[in-house]
Amino acid sequence: MPDRKTFLITAGPTIEDIDPVRFISNRSTGKMGIAIAAAALKNGHAVILVHGPVSDAVLEKLPRTPALTRVPVRSAAGMHKAVMKHARRANVVIMNAAVADYTPAASSPVKLKKSAHSLTLKLHPTVDILKELGAKKPKLGFFLIGFALETGSGHSPAQRRTSQLKEARRKLRDKNLDAIVLDSPHAMGADRSDFTILTRLDTPEKFLRNITKPALAAELIRCVSRNP
Ligand code: CTP
Repeated sequence: MPDRKTFLITAGPTIEDIDPVRFISNRSTGKMGIAIAAAALKNGHAVILVHGPVSDAVLEKLPRTPALTRVPVRSAAGMHKAVMKHARRANVVIMNAAVADYTPAASSPVKLKKSAHSLTLKLHPTVDILKELGAKKPKLGFFLIGFALETGSGHSPAQRRTSQLKEARRKLRDKNLDAIVLDSPHAMGADRSDFTILTRLDTPEKFLRNITKPALAAELIRCVSRNP
C-alpha cells in the first residue's frame, strides 16, 4: 500500500423519508467520522468523505484542502451508491456512518393525513454496505474498518460487556473486516467516550477509556499504518 493512501470514510446518520415532512433517522452527529477524516488529512492522506446530513458546526472541523472530496448523501440507498462508486479508488475504507437498517417500503410524495386509526409503517431492510465491502475486499484489496454500536444483553454490567465484545467479534468475522471499533449509544453526539478496537490479528483488544473522538481517530490512523 502506498504511504499516501486514499481513505474512503463514511460519517453521520442517514435519513429515510416517510413523506415530505416525516422521516426515520438516528442520533448520529457525524463528529466521529469527521474526526477520522481530519486525522487522515493531517497525516497527508487523501480522503473521500461520504456523509449523511450533519450540521455546519461539525463540517467546520474539516480543513479546506484539495486532498478532501466531500460527497453528501441523504439515505442509506444514497450512501450505498456513493460508497460503491468510490470504493475501487480506496486503499482504506472506514464505515463509521450510522446507516439505517430499515427504510419505508414506500415514501409518499404528499404529506400523509392523520386519521383516528393507528398507522402501521412497512419497512424494508437496507443493504448492509459494510458486509458488501467485506465481500469485495479480496478483489479490491483495501483495509476495512467497521464500527459496532452495541448495548449488550444480560442482567449485570459484566454480562453486558462480555456480550458486546462477543457481538463485535462476530461482526468482525462475518463482515470480513480488518478491524472493528466497539462503541455504545453514549458515544453518539458526545465529545468523549469508551471505545474498544478489535483487529483480525491475534492481538488483544485495545480498551480506550473516556478518550476524545480526535484521539480515537489518531489511534485508527496508527492502526492502519501498522498494517500496511
Ligand atoms: N452498516 C452498513 N450498512 C447498514 C447498516 C450498518 O454499512 N445498512 C455499518 C455501519 O456503518 C457500521 C457497521 O455496519 O460500521 C455496524 O453497524 P451496527 O448498527 O452496529 O450493526 P448492524 O450490522 O447494522 O447490526 P445490528 O444493528 O443488528 O447490531
